Amino acid sequence: MSNTPIKIAPSILSGDFSRLGDQVREATAAGANYIHLDVMDGRYVPNLTFGSVVIENLNEYTNLPLDAHLMVVDPDRHVNNFIKAGVHHITVHVEAANHLHSIIYGIKEAGLKAGVALNPSTPISAIEEILPFIDIALILTVNPGFSGQTLIPSALNKATKLKNIIQEKGYTVEIEVDGGVNPETAAMVAKSGADTVVAGSAIFNNKVSISQAMNNLRSKLQEPFN
Ligand code: DX5
Ligand code: ZN
Repeated sequence: MSNTPIKIAPSILSGDFSRLGDQVREATAAGANYIHLDVMDGRYVPNLTFGSVVIENLNEYTNLPLDAHLMVVDPDRHVNNFIKAGVHHITVHVEAANHLHSIIYGIKEAGLKAGVALNPSTPISAIEEILPFIDIALILTVNPGFSGQTLIPSALNKATKLKNIIQEKGYTVEIEVDGGVNPETAAMVAKSGADTVVAGSAIFNNKVSISQAMNNLRSKLQEPFN
């Protein structure tokens, strides 16, 4: 376990898309570490969200890294548009990429951080060969496509396995846990070895303000280390 605070990346998937800029600004003021952008094409996942055109002005509302999670088929075809749109991290699915090494190489060559995402049923071994080349490993703890789902504990176990491999080999890969992270699951997620958590419905909802939601989640993530 580490005492480094776990980073929080609010996912605007749960936000109000009609006031995207304001929501990003509020999440930034509330102490977010990244802004997580869930890009869905209606093919790789059933849902359809937004593309690079919608997010290209978001840097005007935040100085935080824009963390794009591409849930699209043929991510190879889209990566350059997201680089041009000004995002800082691009994560593609290992299950969707045809030539993963080449995509990762292209992202890094453009000066961005490159990530690989794994669905709940995808084993850690699927990223063994790419691990030395990536900056982020995103462990999905729900099936991709929607916010507000329940965390799958067996998927979370992969974060711990991966943490051990990363430490053993001395890689500098950040582990992002994405899906079903909320104040109730935060302690187990924190213990799993996550460096960053993505949170959608726990941050953007009608029950509490964004800043209150951020404070609640942050304190629960810290609890196991107190
Ligand atoms: C799932 C997305 C997540 C989602 C998380 O497809 O990758 O980022 O927005 O939402 P919550 O935190 O509500 O599970
Ligand atoms: Zn995501």
